[in-house]
Amino acid sequence: MVPSACGDVAGYGAARMTIRVAQLSDTHFLEPDHDPEGGFGYDIAAAFDLVEADLSAHDLDAVVVTGDIADHGRPAQYRLALEAFERLRPPVWCTPGNHDRDAAFQAGLTRSHVSAPRLVHVENWCFAFVDSNVGVMLDDGSGHRVDPEHHDRLHGNGLLGSAEAAWLRQVCATTDAEHVFVWVHHPPASGNGAVGPTPEYQAEWRTLLAELPMVRGFGAGHTHVPTFADFEGTPVHIGPALKNNFDLDEYTFLPPGWRRYEFGLDGTVTSTAEFVDDERFPRAPLPRSVAALLRGELTHEQFDAIVARRAAAAG
Ligand SMILES: [Fe+2]
Repeated sequence: MVPSACGDVAGYGAARMTIRVAQLSDTHFLEPDHDPEGGFGYDIAAAFDLVEADLSAHDLDAVVVTGDIADHGRPAQYRLALEAFERLRPPVWCTPGNHDRDAAFQAGLTRSHVSAPRLVHVENWCFAFVDSNVGVMLDDGSGHRVDPEHHDRLHGNGLLGSAEAAWLRQVCATTDAEHVFVWVHHPPASGNGAVGPTPEYQAEWRTLLAELPMVRGFGAGHTHVPTFADFEGTPVHIGPALKNNFDLDEYTFLPPGWRRYEFGLDGTVTSTAEFVDDERFPRAPLPRSVAALLRGELTHEQFDAIVARRAAAAG
């Protein structure tokens, strides 16, 4: 199963009844000894090692990574991501998040085994890799979309814009597949007090879903709260992050993890969140400031100020 230059994929030698995909998300690769955005994060190399070992026990057709691949969007962080993803046996398909920077993301994930396709066809499924950052990007004057200031992209909660929405309409109008699944960083449902979809982003998807009944679901990330939600009758599967994960029922950390999918040829999608429990990633109660951020009792600015004060106090 090797992606061609246009991003389509040859079918399997023999038709199969299910397509098995592992989703990683929010890997936030970070150079050693650098500070993570937001002040805290798991040891990504250790988290990836555990997830890789877990994945190796499963028979998978592909791995999808739904954005925030690099913590600050720096080229060195994509080199770390590429080295890690190349260790995985199945093809790895990436889509960008708000922590990614478009130019570095596009340049950094271009091996045959690790790529950022727009479309992949497998059996009677079309996987559409939607870029939910396009709506905040700017026209550089020559018709190309470029990133806005780092802050404006970093704090985006998803916006398709007319061009990305038109692209998905075109995909659905022209594909031979029966079923379409959207891989996208920003979920259209299930936010928390810290991050979540804006009414504008939800309205974009509400309009699209009404026009495109062949869209069977979403595989998303962004919130670092692995869960399952429903948006206008369409299932939204949110994968665990590698950087940090939160359980908002118990208000504890969760270990790093991944989400396991099975796509049936009848259009059904099932998924399960998998966690790699390890003593380095205990399911400990969240610090008060993190819980307050996730409840919406603190803004990002207030939370960042607390983190900065603590860092200064610690010397
Ligand atoms: Fe993230």
